[in-house]
Amino acid sequence: MKDKLRSQGWFGKTGKDGFIYRAWMKNQGIPDYEFRGKPVIGICNTWSELTPCNAHFRELAESVKRGISEAGGFPVEFPVMSLGETLIKPTAMLYRNLASMDVEESIRANPMDGVVLLCGCDKTTPSLVMGACSVNIPTLVVSGGPMLTGKYQGRDISTSDVWRFNDAVRTGDMSEEQLTVAEECMCRSRGHCAVMGTASTMACMVESLGLSLPGNAAIPAADSRRKVLAQMSGIRIVEMVNENLRLSDVLTRKAFENAIITNAAIGGSTNFIIHLLAIAGRIGVDLKLDDFDKLSANVPFIVNLQPSGKYFMEDLYYAGGLPAALKELDKFLHHDSLTVNGKTMKENYDSAECYNRDIIGTVDKPFNALSGVAILKGNLCENGAVIKPSAASPHLMKHSGRAVVFEDIDDYKNRIDDPELAVDENSILVLKNVGPIGYPGMPEVGNMALPKKLLAKGITDLVRISDGRMSGTGFGTVILHASPEAALGDNFAVVKTGDVIGLDVAQRTLMLEVADEELSMRKQNWKPIHKKYDRGYVMLYQQHVEQASHGADMDFLKGGSGSEVSRDSH
Ligand code: FES
Repeated sequence: MKDKLRSQGWFGKTGKDGFIYRAWMKNQGIPDYEFRGKPVIGICNTWSELTPCNAHFRELAESVKRGISEAGGFPVEFPVMSLGETLIKPTAMLYRNLASMDVEESIRANPMDGVVLLCGCDKTTPSLVMGACSVNIPTLVVSGGPMLTGKYQGRDISTSDVWRFNDAVRTGDMSEEQLTVAEECMCRSRGHCAVMGTASTMACMVESLGLSLPGNAAIPAADSRRKVLAQMSGIRIVEMVNENLRLSDVLTRKAFENAIITNAAIGGSTNFIIHLLAIAGRIGVDLKLDDFDKLSANVPFIVNLQPSGKYFMEDLYYAGGLPAALKELDKFLHHDSLTVNGKTMKENYDSAECYNRDIIGTVDKPFNALSGVAILKGNLCENGAVIKPSAASPHLMKHSGRAVVFEDIDDYKNRIDDPELAVDENSILVLKNVGPIGYPGMPEVGNMALPKKLLAKGITDLVRISDGRMSGTGFGTVILHASPEAALGDNFAVVKTGDVIGLDVAQRTLMLEVADEELSMRKQNWKPIHKKYDRGYVMLYQQHVEQASHGADMDFLKGGSGSEVSRDSH
């Protein structure tokens, strides 16, 4: 076994090279025997005080280390770029691919036999999994866990309430003072957003892909059982190295299908699509945008969590956690998908129990017959656009209306509350130039707030279309990820205020009712208005990022380079 360890390519060397590899490590007080054939396990840590959702990760890493040592491994913790969703400007998504490059190169360049990924806030999960896939050594994910549910004036709150509070302040139904009180009540513990937003969606994604131990998704960050899971994960990764169980053994096409089915049933974030496509691209599994629609078409919505439902992640854990939900989905899932604990998906959920049917429903009694995502096609989005029916208004699922177009986010901000804006409840808001290239980075602005004057009339939803994304905590009849994005000068770039747009979710169509000749003429006269960057990472990103319909990864990052270092350093 010792001879097969990748780390022995460093620590097993004799002479000057081995001396150098070991001697400097020993300045940390590490005994010689640690280097003599133990599996070296990296703990890839996204701890940062600027990523509050992951701020408890140094403590969590200690539990992982305990498990690794207990199982006979040698733990080494290392930092990678951490993306805090709430602070990073212009948007954390701009840096997901950069962070994944950091992860990939850090793993490959260092003496590691296996790696535990500590993930939490939205982009930290996909960036770590993407990077690890491109190296493909034994890998296991430990999520940081959700926050405890917020409590405000006797009621439960979490991130989705930010949008409601915002509307209430704009209409005068909530004061700034009340908003400050709510601010103190919402994030009252360690952990990531407590609704089924993107972070929770990502945690469910890794569990349903088989990349974590069962139960990982929902244990609250503040619950002592989170640390137990971290320690057990430390034990398990050492066994995985001994078994040479690599990411590509777990991440098969069936695993991706299980994740898509699960995401539909839990009402997961639309960001799931972009991240899963990118992960599939790295590990070499052929996954298409249409697969998300096809695979989730008949899957009922059975996990009653906000923003599509009522409860919070903490409640899901007490009700039995994700394994109890997976058990309900038994007839939809591939049973034999291998997971990181060496058992199949079915073996992992078979003994799970549901303790609260108001939180985890059954396939026969779902909370909503609508689930998953619908992939829309039409001349407004020839490569596809996405809508989450369970978060949309039923009366708008088939709708025709006149477009009110904003050329970019500044145009939107300047005019949305203009009393003169010609908009009514039948209008369709269109926001351009918030795609991967146009913004750049594809921010979460797709669920644009409605005009104040319509809110005042009691109108709470409009059809909204953009080439951007929506926060996983957002809701409404919001069509996202329109591709090709406006910055590429196709039909979405030339839609004008007053054009009629027809949406039919049942038929999966999104049509701009303008004659082809007129569209051709507009495209001939079209000029890009987005800013082009001429240096650094952002320039690289604008030149190489793919469209949302392909996962918005960089074209040159697709696939992997394996775990071989390009050449020895001496
Ligand atoms: Fe980090 Fe929501 S801001 S998970």
